[in-house]
Amino acid sequence: MPCGWHRHLMLSPAQAENSVREALKMGYRLIDTANAYVNERAVGRGMRDSGVAREEIFLSTKLWPSEYENPNAVDETLERLGVDYVDLLYIHQPAGNWLAGYRQLEKAYKDGKSKSIGISNFEGEYIAELQTKWEIVPQFIQVEAHPYFTQKELRKTLDKYGIRLMSWYPLGHGDRSLIEEPVFAALGRKYEKTPAQVILRWHTQMGFAVIPGSKNVDHIRDNLNILDFTLTDDEMARIAKLDKGERYYHRTDAQLKQFAGWRPDFEKA
Ligand SMILES: NC(=O)c1ccc[n+]([C@@H]2O[C@H](COP(=O)([O-])OP(=O)(O)OC[C@H]3O[C@@H](n4cnc5c(N)ncnc54)[C@H](OP(=O)(O)O)[C@@H]3O)[C@@H](O)[C@H]2O)c1
Repeated sequence: MPCGWHRHLMLSPAQAENSVREALKMGYRLIDTANAYVNERAVGRGMRDSGVAREEIFLSTKLWPSEYENPNAVDETLERLGVDYVDLLYIHQPAGNWLAGYRQLEKAYKDGKSKSIGISNFEGEYIAELQTKWEIVPQFIQVEAHPYFTQKELRKTLDKYGIRLMSWYPLGHGDRSLIEEPVFAALGRKYEKTPAQVILRWHTQMGFAVIPGSKNVDHIRDNLNILDFTLTDDEMARIAKLDKGERYYHRTDAQLKQFAGWRPDFEKA
């Protein structure tokens, strides 16, 4: 991979196959992967082995910049996953010829190969430029979001176009200072939930789709168990006070250049 930040969030093919199969058996229905995670074949195997019907699963993946000008990128992605369609197809980064990548998404959407399309990491100038060029408005944007960084500015544009936010680093990438904020402990006591569950519930009440990462089975189970309580408006307002407008991950232009120059070593089988 071109950079450290990706390494720690990727699951190896064997881990991905197991996690996908077990998560689906446990009741999860959203699976989010990417060309760049180099585990799409394994994700496909996990889906098939889970016994859960394809149409019950919401499968999202992302084209990597090396694929933006490859006319077969979408078909090759579907082939690796072993599916006829995905539910959501993103372009992963505003790097390289990303407009060519976006045109591929629009075509995939029209051809029924993707049920919806999205942009990942396209905040600021990038979504502004895309707005002048899109033919089809994306339904999703995947960006960093958590109670310390709620994407206030970006959400004005999203609200205008009805674009759904999917939060990455929803738990602040596991940062203890976020998870241990007293407000989450207090609300956890009230609702008999863990602080992480309160944070994930906050995301859903903000209208965000959420993709927490975990290698711990108890956490994976907990992270699904957030649908049986509702934070009050006053509690949402208390959490809103934590917003510092500060992200954990800062991408540089040099990284975008690196992204454009790197091609994932896709699994052979
Ligand atoms: N589109 C992009 O460019 C992009 C960039 C970054 C990330 N992402 C996506 O975002 C997802 C989440 O990112 P992430 O995993 O780095 O950050 P995260 O979900 O914010 O945090 C994960 C951390 O939280 C801990 N955790 C998870 N559930 C917990 C619980 N119930 N209680 C206590 N701790 C808990 C995990 O530890 P344990 O393993 O011990 O549970 C891990 O240390 C990734 O799967 C990735 O697909 C996308």
